[in-house]
Amino acid sequence: MESFLVCDWVRQEAHDIWSIGFTPLDGEDNKQIELGRFISIDFPDMQGRPGRRCYSICGLGPAQGFEVSVRRSGNGGVSDSLVDRMRPGCVVSLAGVGGDINIARVAQKSSLLMVASGIGVTLPVALLRGLVQRRQQGEPVPTVHLVVVIQDLQRLPFLQELLSLHLESDWFELSVYLTRQCVLPRMQCFSHGRPDPQAVFGARGWEGVVICGGSPFAQFHEECARQRLPGSEVFVEAFTRVNLDSPQTTAATQVKARIDGLVVSIDPASSLLEGLEAQGVSIPNQCRAGICGRCRVKVRSGEYQTRDDFAISAKDRAQGYVLACCTYALGDEIAIERPTAHHNPSA
Ligand code: FES
Repeated sequence: MESFLVCDWVRQEAHDIWSIGFTPLDGEDNKQIELGRFISIDFPDMQGRPGRRCYSICGLGPAQGFEVSVRRSGNGGVSDSLVDRMRPGCVVSLAGVGGDINIARVAQKSSLLMVASGIGVTLPVALLRGLVQRRQQGEPVPTVHLVVVIQDLQRLPFLQELLSLHLESDWFELSVYLTRQCVLPRMQCFSHGRPDPQAVFGARGWEGVVICGGSPFAQFHEECARQRLPGSEVFVEAFTRVNLDSPQTTAATQVKARIDGLVVSIDPASSLLEGLEAQGVSIPNQCRAGICGRCRVKVRSGEYQTRDDFAISAKDRAQGYVLACCTYALGDEIAIERPTAHHNPSA
């Protein structure tokens, strides 16, 4: 059943970042809304082409409302379109709510390192807001160090909120690295350049690590965390570039795809998800960007290339599981198996 969100408000947070408040029209959807999870919105881009983007739920409103933050990058994509067109009362299509990073999971840790770049700071902000609420209710919270890497201060949303928490709490520390802005010596918490991974990950043993940013940033810091903090639980949320070009392939002009007894021809320039959908074969999906894990399938035979597949474990990957939205056939033929409803390869 299709779900919808109604826009309550729009507010500029930083140079290129806007927050948008929504309320689900269907109360059922509201049960899934949690700080740290994300929503997928279907909305046309600036040229009217249909698109889908995911946004972290970074605030909860008083009357079942919630907020997300959207970066207007100027590329004419869905996010630009949302910022330019959303006004109170506008209705958008909610494709789903996903993600398994939430307050309950991070609050169990005694110490948390959060590393974010750009708009990726919205996930740490969401989790911090939840932890602040817990603290106000007298519940224990982990000690948290947030490391943000961003071009300049004008692009950092929620700066006042983060600085206040840094100054007023005994459990939160903020470090901001400005890659394109000089820093005066008296500017506490701020440094120029990029953080040294040894200094960030090696300073102490963190029980949990939250990483959020673009794919290369997330990949690099996830590797750092796994190498330097082998005992800690790593939570990663990565986002892809908009309008990615398809990867270079050596495949034929059409690929024969076998799936559950069907044989269809798919375009090798399309992901398995898009190629199969074009032939009328549906695969469950939500984010279409390697984040939610809903499009997981198993490749039985055939060569393939994947990218930005953060929502799949190394163990599952080794067993041939892939995310159909991030996987491209490389040969002439590929055989795929859709998991059954009860099959959870991560279990
Ligand atoms: S649809 Fe979300 S990971 Fe593929």
